[in-house]
Amino acid sequence: MQQWLQAYLCIVQYRKVNRMQEKLKIILKNTRDLLEKAAGIDETEMIRVKVLGKKGELTDILKSMGKLPPEERKELGRAANDVRKEIENLLEEKFAKVKEAAKEGRFRLEKIDVTEPGREFVLGVKHPLTIVTEEISGIFMSMGYSYAEGPQADTVFNAFDALNSPKDHPSRDMTDTFYISDDVVLRPHTSTVQIRTLIKQEPPIKIISPGRCFRCDTFDATHSPMFQQIEGLLVDEGINMADLKGTLDSMAKKLFGSATKTKFRPHYFPFTEPSAEMDVSCFKCGGKGCNICKGSGWIEILGCGMVHPNVLAVGGLDTEKYTGFAFGMGVERIAMLKYGVDDIRLFYENDMRFINQFK
Ligand code: PHE
Repeated sequence: MQQWLQAYLCIVQYRKVNRMQEKLKIILKNTRDLLEKAAGIDETEMIRVKVLGKKGELTDILKSMGKLPPEERKELGRAANDVRKEIENLLEEKFAKVKEAAKEGRFRLEKIDVTEPGREFVLGVKHPLTIVTEEISGIFMSMGYSYAEGPQADTVFNAFDALNSPKDHPSRDMTDTFYISDDVVLRPHTSTVQIRTLIKQEPPIKIISPGRCFRCDTFDATHSPMFQQIEGLLVDEGINMADLKGTLDSMAKKLFGSATKTKFRPHYFPFTEPSAEMDVSCFKCGGKGCNICKGSGWIEILGCGMVHPNVLAVGGLDTEKYTGFAFGMGVERIAMLKYGVDDIRLFYENDMRFINQFK
């Protein structure tokens, strides 16, 4: 080879090596800058791939070194390896730092302050009407009665006709009862369960049926268009008025105290004959007369009577063989008397200040 050509090639080679060395420096500097700014593990990993990955900048240089003559390869190889080591160290440091930061971030997020005061756990209380319903139901359950339920919307037949209610009875009027259609009403009393049970069940029958009732009353201190009743029904052979009185008298003594006296006044209900209203001696004044009993010493609490044979007949019972009694009481009225509540609306306002008083 001519000398000048050899010299030329030598210069070209020298330049190439020089450029590669320059490139190595730039890669190192850029990597250092990028790592300084990198915020998290993902970003650091991206830089690692960019420089040291399969197609990384440094990897490219290391690959291209194969084409160099041995002495230059050796020199450049050392430089490239140094840069690689340095970059690896930088990456290692950075990874340690960002991993630590991520861990701390997680700790901060998941930190539990065990000295923080606990959140208050508010335990609900039973509504006073639930308390009274359960108390009265409990008394009858202890006498062997079982629990029966019926729908709140029922047929006119179950609400009136089957209960011997004359066609012109005022309670049938639209101004008294909510009609959903000509044949369906919101039940005005839980006596609908009386007839449902008589149709379904053979004597002996011994049930109570608490539940919601509806009447077209304007909401005021003593009336509510929706209220709760507890109805009771007992049918068997040889049941008479003495059984009715004994049962209700013992219920009154359990509910209002053992000194309570009861009094039965004749009354009229279409579905019972004879019918009565039961008064209890005033549990506040004991009968002397006070504001609760309005000076009379007695408080009316329920309606009752011997089940009318016409009603038993709708249930398909032999009226010569079977007799029975029924009673119905308003839960709100009893709760108002028991707790001295003077406005029925308080039961439906859901004011926790009121309800919490029955804890
Ligand atoms: N159903 C009557 C009322 O709502 C109460 C009652 C029930 C009377 C059973 C007698 C027998 O007032």
